[in-house]
Amino acid sequence: MKEFIDLRSDTVTCPTPDMRKVMAEAEVGDDVFGEDPTVNTLQERVAILLGKEAALFVPSGTMANQLSIKSLTRSGDEVIIESSSHAYNFEGGAGAALSGVQFNCLKGIRGILDASQIEEAIRPADHHFAVTKLICLENTHNRGGGSIYPLEKMTEIYRLAQSKGILIHLDGARLWNASVASGIKPHEYAQRADSVSVCISKGLGAPIGSLVAGSKGFIECVHRFRKMFGGGMRQAGIIAAAGVYALDHHLERLKEDHQNAKRLAVGLKECKGVSIDPKHVETNIVIFDITETGMTALQVAEAMKKEGVLIHAFGKTQIRLVTHLDVSSKDIETALKTFIKVLTRKS
Ligand SMILES: Cc1ncc(COP(=O)(O)O)c(C=O)c1O
Repeated sequence: MKEFIDLRSDTVTCPTPDMRKVMAEAEVGDDVFGEDPTVNTLQERVAILLGKEAALFVPSGTMANQLSIKSLTRSGDEVIIESSSHAYNFEGGAGAALSGVQFNCLKGIRGILDASQIEEAIRPADHHFAVTKLICLENTHNRGGGSIYPLEKMTEIYRLAQSKGILIHLDGARLWNASVASGIKPHEYAQRADSVSVCISKGLGAPIGSLVAGSKGFIECVHRFRKMFGGGMRQAGIIAAAGVYALDHHLERLKEDHQNAKRLAVGLKECKGVSIDPKHVETNIVIFDITETGMTALQVAEAMKKEGVLIHAFGKTQIRLVTHLDVSSKDIETALKTFIKVLTRKS
């Protein structure tokens, strides 16, 4: 099988041999009965890391976000969310289908919203309007190019929400990246939200799984809906073990992914026709525009694939690259050389 350098997403990582070993040896039980010790360990560790009373293991980031929205809203409520966010765009319309909420989408700068624009969007207490019940934030922001939510902005938004009786859900699929890059502990971000979702299957390199964290009462509610949505798993310790291992061994190394992403951005800036500001590459995601090359993102993706590098065409002329555990600094240099070859071929 041809070996590709896969820069499409940090979800493509395969468990390492050591991770597989702990998975194979994991102590397990029936998690629907709450009897899986490895799941319980992972849940406790994540609750502590996020400074929350409790956490619950769920199969995916999508389920983590949607269980949170379901638990914090009632049908007909309004949810303020950034217009390019994952929970609004890429979760199959689940907010409307499963929770009956309507989204009020606000445009952010690289995915980041300001308290003042949220304040303007909050509906008056008048029966003509939907009830603004929840604000969803995403940190890091995927479509925003892995941008980190500045802590001060989160503080302002949280204060505003509290003063208006509105709740905050934080989609922290890549909160680990935000924390490692900024030096701000995950619990400091999480403190500024009522519920938090985090993934172990992205930068941390575990094969499956996410967690939702919050107050005990909130997690009880999430637990009920997890059952209802079919997300209760049995001997889930086999996959939770990968999460425990990843927290021990793959957290600090996210720095390498961030360095690799920066290297990609700096190298790409030198390619004729590429528009990118390396300053905007804060974590492991690199988004750039190729309009000036005269090629479409799909054409570039196909040409790169023929040369052994997989990339994600993100709209007509935008490309997204994501660095991760299975991409080395040597692979990054190879990918850059390949970009230069492909992009200069046509322009
Ligand atoms: C920011 C963000 N939230 C949630 C998800 C959903 O995660 P999953 O693919 O595990 O459902 C993703 C997936 O890429 C994501 O990037």
